[in-house]
Amino acid sequence: MEQFAYKNGHLVCENVAASKIADKVGTPTYVYSRDALVSRLRDLKKAFAPVKPLICYSIKACSNQNIIKLMAREGSGFDVVSGGELYRALQAGAKPGKIVFAGVGKTDKEIRDAIKTGILMFNVESEAELARISAVACRMKKVADIAFRINPDVDPKTHRYMSTGKKETKFGIDLARAEQVVDSLSDHPGVALRGIHMHIGSQITDLKPHAKALRKIVRLVEKCKSMGHDIKYINMGGGFGITYKNEPSRTAKDFARQIVPIVRKTGCRLLMEPGRFIVGNSAILLTKVVYTKKAGDGRSFVICDAAMNDLIRPTLYEAYHHIWPVDSSNSKPEILADIVGPICETGDFFGKERQIPVVDKDDLLAIFSAGAYGMTMSSNYNSRPRPCEVLVSGSTFQVIRRRETYADLIAKEKGRLPTYKSYR
Ligand SMILES: Cc1ncc(COP(=O)(O)O)c(C=O)c1O
Repeated sequence: MEQFAYKNGHLVCENVAASKIADKVGTPTYVYSRDALVSRLRDLKKAFAPVKPLICYSIKACSNQNIIKLMAREGSGFDVVSGGELYRALQAGAKPGKIVFAGVGKTDKEIRDAIKTGILMFNVESEAELARISAVACRMKKVADIAFRINPDVDPKTHRYMSTGKKETKFGIDLARAEQVVDSLSDHPGVALRGIHMHIGSQITDLKPHAKALRKIVRLVEKCKSMGHDIKYINMGGGFGITYKNEPSRTAKDFARQIVPIVRKTGCRLLMEPGRFIVGNSAILLTKVVYTKKAGDGRSFVICDAAMNDLIRPTLYEAYHHIWPVDSSNSKPEILADIVGPICETGDFFGKERQIPVVDKDDLLAIFSAGAYGMTMSSNYNSRPRPCEVLVSGSTFQVIRRRETYADLIAKEKGRLPTYKSYR
């Protein structure tokens, strides 16, 4: 996270002091670095250049319109998994011909809308879905390009909730059945097979699982080609991991060294769907201390104005995020504390038993590596308005999503009763 650094003991993002952002827009606030976002995307493009990568940024990681716009301007395509994400991509100016659509439960409407839009291809997750896409396309008198998402049964060595390429998960078509499914394509005139896709999981820092899965996929690609299918893309999904704590710090080049030789042999273009790798370490969550207190057993708590509704990763995955005061210019004694939010859940924490300098009411804390699956997984639990998002560029910053208000909380429920139609 080189764009986030301490200068004379004060945290800055690029050239803007984190404390200045908090003064102007309040807390909690997500702070993104434009330079970090763009650099990570460019690093991937460069490292994978030998296999002419089509990078489709995975919108689910962070879906702010301004960040999608930024990615689109840099030439990125997009990985979407819902009609809502497709809408977001198009509204932000994404080129339809660079959009891929994944997900195990695409509805008729989503399929129709995506075909009408002219997306690059669907990543097909099951035989039932294959039949559905073909039928919808036929009704529209179109042929939809597809890739089969294959489940290669490879352990990605990540948290179990982020593992998506093992047999027992709901994702993709079992590799053992894949050839049979390819054979069945003659029954589905509404689709054309243009790629093979996989996505084995997220936050993968071990270099071997992707390579292992790709070797399996490549055999299928060759088979499909020999059957006369014009396979243009191998889509390796996303999953590149980042450093949150002490994971090995992997660069785009490290991943490329393993992957490029495997894909290059096939003559296909590499399509990839990175999310976390681009945005994870491109943002922090700024929060303010509301209280400090001690529990009955002597343990210290630092209670912040951010909570699990703003960043749920620690609660959901017991994920580690580095947390440190924004101002650490004066050396203070350190304490061992749980850093928690104000929500009525024991699971509402950001860090447990953390060694941090003594903090007091109104001190600012930075929760690092918060860009991926942070704001996109936020909610209004406990009727808390969602935080503000800010994009820093050099010495300036702009609000790219205003803080929600109390009025926003009830906007969709407003009116005198009975407002809505009743059903029997
Ligand atoms: C199909 C697919 N592609 C790409 C991604 C992005 O993964 P990551 O953020 O780990 O790069 C995901 C994440 O769940 C996914 O499901």
